[in-house]
Amino acid sequence: MIRVAPSILSADFTVLGQEIKSITDAGGDWIHFDVMDGVFVPNISIGIPVLESVRRITGCFIDVHLMIVEPQKLAAAFCRAGADLVTVHYEAAEEENILAAIETIHSCGKKAGLSIKPGTPAEIVHKFLPMVDLVLVMTVEPGFGGQGFMHDMLPKIQQVRKMIEEFHPGCLLEVDGGINPETAELVIRHGADTLVAGSYFFKAKDRKGAVEALKIPFKGE
Ligand code: DX5
Ligand code: ZN
Repeated sequence: MIRVAPSILSADFTVLGQEIKSITDAGGDWIHFDVMDGVFVPNISIGIPVLESVRRITGCFIDVHLMIVEPQKLAAAFCRAGADLVTVHYEAAEEENILAAIETIHSCGKKAGLSIKPGTPAEIVHKFLPMVDLVLVMTVEPGFGGQGFMHDMLPKIQQVRKMIEEFHPGCLLEVDGGINPETAELVIRHGADTLVAGSYFFKAKDRKGAVEALKIPFKGE
């Protein structure tokens, strides 16, 4: 099964409620919620108060992507604010603190993910794999929506898929950055099962058609 997670980073925040509704109306599976602190990435986005507001208006699964340093400090707060899954970056803190963040998220009763930036090798996922519910392979440098897909990430997606099959079947494999119907086909063929789409989804006139187009490569297989 392929899941599509529209990223509200590309939404019109003046009408965020309508944008959220358009995700569920279009058949989007998850809401992808990008948190940026201006330190881990050179941009600042949205945080806890916005997450609380989004949680109040939807029952949809909220996939929080923390692009912040020292995520162990705020992981519980994001869980309390309404996240269903919280993903932290491997590069965002010392390994022991990344492990602490994952434990905190689980102790809050939520799912935990681990993300790797384009420059981080797949191998580091190995030791975290038994502990996480999702691995997020970035297919752009985190920080901004609307960037071009990095085709050289495809072997890494395949490598992580192999590791998942061997050591933690059931763990999800998400990709984020530059996803459109063409790149969706490639990442699905390389083993991704959860696709984040920001600009492609929110620019589409027909958002239901956009979600379907991202899932098409998988139909009938
Ligand atoms: C980038 C974010 C993405 C972003 C994707 O740092 O993590 O979720 O919204 O946007 P598109 O789909 O436009 O590349
Ligand atoms: Zn993201």
